[in-house]
Amino acid sequence: MTDFHPKNILVTGGCGFIGSNFVHYVVNNHPDVHITVLDALTYAGNLANIAGLPKDRVEFVYGNICDVDLLEQVVPGHDAIVNYAAESHNDNAIADPNPFLHTNVEGTYRLLQEARKHDIRFHHISTDEVYGDLALDDPHKFTEHTPYNPSSPYSSTKAASDMLVRAWHRTYGLRTTISNCSNNYGPYQHVEKFIPRQITNILEGIRPKLYGAGLNVRDWIHTEDHSRAVWTILTKGEYGQTYLIGANGEKNNITVLREILKLMGKDPDDFEHVKDRPGHDRRYAIDATKLRTQLGWEPIHNDFEEGLKQTIDWYTQHQDWWKPVKDAVEQRYAEQGQ
Ligand code: NAD
Ligand code: TYD
Repeated sequence: MTDFHPKNILVTGGCGFIGSNFVHYVVNNHPDVHITVLDALTYAGNLANIAGLPKDRVEFVYGNICDVDLLEQVVPGHDAIVNYAAESHNDNAIADPNPFLHTNVEGTYRLLQEARKHDIRFHHISTDEVYGDLALDDPHKFTEHTPYNPSSPYSSTKAASDMLVRAWHRTYGLRTTISNCSNNYGPYQHVEKFIPRQITNILEGIRPKLYGAGLNVRDWIHTEDHSRAVWTILTKGEYGQTYLIGANGEKNNITVLREILKLMGKDPDDFEHVKDRPGHDRRYAIDATKLRTQLGWEPIHNDFEEGLKQTIDWYTQHQDWWKPVKDAVEQRYAEQGQ
């Protein structure tokens, strides 16, 4: 275990779903830490996600992680970079992989070079999807020893970025860690993603849309548990190591959808089966033993139904946040038969 106390951190992608939840988490739990958020405000980034946070704690810089000149102005002076910036949605990557290569691969490379130049601690946020998928009846889960086997344009670019981080540690001695987390849910998630899409469909009177038979399994974790895990790894993780983050939350999609319908007072069968995703990964499942035993992290949001209820409440109370983009998202899905 290391004992690292950053006071000034750069959070890239801090206006997206998980990055902004991390910014809120640090502001609320680590009062001596200053955060610079660097974000390109793509369709997935929203300044409203960090609005209202104290100006003396959180500074926002607009910009792209591929912009070397900007990085040279912004990065020096920080103790650590936590890299959340990414193109993150599988369906978008299938339609157009180009921005995924640009941000996820080139962007990570540019950040690593800048971190190396100024000897800055680097934590990279990644996904369990780099391990490919598991059969539904496979008794095993992913561990840090599972071979990389990404199956989608999105996960292959995330896998490539992880490889760069590992190489920069081994070759240049950069103080790196990587975390590969399972599917997050919670506030501020874009309405293109599964859980917010179905909640907001129901709120709009649209029938929820299930890909294929809905038997694909995802391992759900509340985004606040993810944030605490990242903080734990940033401050205690061994350099050069990878930690898997998951909270034993495996459920298939049809079960999650029926739970949402039930919690929103609807008939649990009031949804549509739509066209399946090409190459759709069957199942993800995380064994987080290393993080739990070596660094002492434990999830606190262990009641999925309660977490889902709070998430439904959040989307019900924040319609101004998602309504402006909802129609365009649904139109795009409709064009894809989804
Ligand atoms: P998101 O799409 O909601 O947010 C991404 C953020 O990055 C946005 O604010 C966007 O504006 C910003 N961004 C994109 N390209 C940029 C660029 N070139 N320069 C600067 N900023 C840029 O994504 P998310 O769901 O919050 O995911 C964040 C990270 O967590 C990603 O690395 C993703 O791979 C990883 N992850 C996500 C999940 C999940 O369930 N969503 C699970 C595990 C890991
Ligand atoms: P998603 O939120 O896109 O996350 P990921 O692809 O990273 O796991 O999708 C979660 C699961 O839900 C995935 O199996 C695809 C499925 N899904 C649907 O059934 N309907 C939808 O409208 C969406 C967006 C996803």
